[in-house]
Amino acid sequence: QQEFIIAPSVLNANFARLGEECDTVLAAGGDMIHLDVMDNHYVPNLTVGPMVCQALRDYGLKAPIDVHLMVEPVDALIEAFAKAGASYISFHPDATRHLDRSIELVRELGCRPGLVLNPAVPVASIGQVLHKLDMLLLMSVNPGFGGQAFVPYVLDKLKEARAMIDASGHSVRLEVDGGIKVHNIADVAQAGADTFVVGSEIFSADDYKAVIDRLKTRLTQ
Ligand code: DX5
Ligand code: ZN
Repeated sequence: QQEFIIAPSVLNANFARLGEECDTVLAAGGDMIHLDVMDNHYVPNLTVGPMVCQALRDYGLKAPIDVHLMVEPVDALIEAFAKAGASYISFHPDATRHLDRSIELVRELGCRPGLVLNPAVPVASIGQVLHKLDMLLLMSVNPGFGGQAFVPYVLDKLKEARAMIDASGHSVRLEVDGGIKVHNIADVAQAGADTFVVGSEIFSADDYKAVIDRLKTRLTQ
């Protein structure tokens, strides 16, 4: 099993001082910054574009930035985020016409490609391209908002995805996003996830480190 990664989602951070929020959550034990990009088209919400990713790099952020594109179409923004300092770039397969081409584009631009599956999208649907990915991200809420409840049937999907990744022999991170809390992270890890996006559980707390310590404790118990 690969090591566990906690990727704090800054969706519920204070955007008026985003750089400091990133510093604080990384110092508190976050491993990479998860940046949720929403276009009010693919999802019913609007967040930030590549300028904000670039601004975080200019500010001095060194940690990996895990860009989660909830936009349609994807190719132009893949290019813009690669230029703006993204590390991982993940997108939803139903947001592009030419899935293989968009994955290749991420790779050609020097970033790590990931695919994101909404709760109702079967894991088997991306079987042909699994070997081209660095990350498979399973949504455990319907995308668009922080603070929603974990969709329980995603646990079975995680098990299926874990089996598929292990059988492939490729090193693909299995990330989960939505409703991850101190109380359920151990079950989610048990189901096979190794990379955990955590938003409101961290950013609604006063002490980010206390929450991340508790998350990590649950992972090692
Ligand atoms: C939802 C986003 C998530 C979200 C996670 O569309 O992709 O990253 O911010 O937030 P929590 O942990 O609050 O569910
Ligand atoms: Zn996300």
